[in-house]
Amino acid sequence: MLKGKHIILGITGGIAAYKSVQLLRLLVKSGAEVQVVITPAGKEFITPVTLSALSGKPVISEFFTANTGQWNSHVDIGLWADLMVIAPATASTIAKMATGVADNMLVTTYLSAKAPVFVAPAMDLDMMAHPTTTRNLQQLRADGVHVIESATGELASHLVGKGRMAEPQEIHDAIAAFFASRDDSALAGRRMLVTAGPTYEKIDPVRFIGNYSTGKMGYAIADEAARRGMKVTVVSGPVSVVPQEPGVEVIRVESAREMLAECRRLFPEQDVAVMCAAVADYAPAETADRKIKREHDDVPVIRLVKNPDIAAALGAEKKPGQRLIGFALETDNALANAREKLSRKNLDMIILNSLADPGAGFGTDTNKVTVIRADGAAEELPLMPKRDVAAAILDRLSL
Ligand code: PMT
Repeated sequence: MLKGKHIILGITGGIAAYKSVQLLRLLVKSGAEVQVVITPAGKEFITPVTLSALSGKPVISEFFTANTGQWNSHVDIGLWADLMVIAPATASTIAKMATGVADNMLVTTYLSAKAPVFVAPAMDLDMMAHPTTTRNLQQLRADGVHVIESATGELASHLVGKGRMAEPQEIHDAIAAFFASRDDSALAGRRMLVTAGPTYEKIDPVRFIGNYSTGKMGYAIADEAARRGMKVTVVSGPVSVVPQEPGVEVIRVESAREMLAECRRLFPEQDVAVMCAAVADYAPAETADRKIKREHDDVPVIRLVKNPDIAAALGAEKKPGQRLIGFALETDNALANAREKLSRKNLDMIILNSLADPGAGFGTDTNKVTVIRADGAAEELPLMPKRDVAAAILDRLSL
């Protein structure tokens, strides 16, 4: 799983830094290319010479290499990496990561990294139990960082409690398991259509019926699919987000009818379609060609007509082997409503998110979803960044 993977190993100033040597050996032995980035305090505990000998690469610590003046680009290293692991991660580094204090090469690299990040905290038990550390670790989890829990045992202070860094083998195995769960070979090269954002249904040239969707969830799915080698097309309502991954094609539409036309045109060539857009269920029966004036005594009455159901239309046209994934945005009776939509629209999976859950739904960077499969089995996932929700959905997709 680690063969050819680019891994940044971040080392900070804690007694457990000696264990990082073993972690480095294990990663290299499994075929990973490892770039060590060490904080100035880390060098007090372990020498760069040992680390560079084992990794086969110069160790990076400062923004400039002292004798040559060479600039070490944190952006380039951040982009090079498939994964970053910081082991040990001291209370101080965890706090800097949680608040964005970029005063050394390691935290600067973390802020530039596009890859998944793991931390293995190591500190004395009082520091570990302090509300500040708890808060900072919670913040890192909410930012999508994977925390490899510390163990309980004897600490450098000879006190016994929680704070020992997880064993190198355990950290290595957590990283390998992560790559295994993202084995993208089944998805690479396959085609995915994603709908994202709201639709706008015109009342007149200046007004529309719309909703609060920002496109964040749909674009997160598109980006994750592209990272896994899929060819992705987003049919997007009006949003300001853009894909973060190169190669994601975006087709912009405004109304549900325009979205339906594009989806029907594209669907026959797709392996998967993910219906994440918040499509307006109704549109004005007529669109005024001039601005409706306020001066009239009467309040205008807008007659609505039903919009087409795009997911149901694709569900009716679905061929064997194609997968159709829907979303359900509910406020009450959530599971029953979602299951009803799953079956009525001929979906293979539906992702339920409820506006009753804080941090879920429109506009947030996080979401809390329940994945419901075609047989009705439901799996509730915790609140997590939309990027991780996207990964969880793709992990559960079989083609
Ligand atoms: O964009 P964000 O701000 O990140 O917010 C994300 C989100 C809340 C919009 C997203 O997670 C989400 O829940 N999208 C679906 C919203 C929705 O319209 O749910 P629904 O329960 O009304 O529709 C069920 C399914 O049918 C959805 O897959 C929807 O795309 C589809 N549908 C609905 C109506 C319609 N006319 N055509 C459709 O295709």
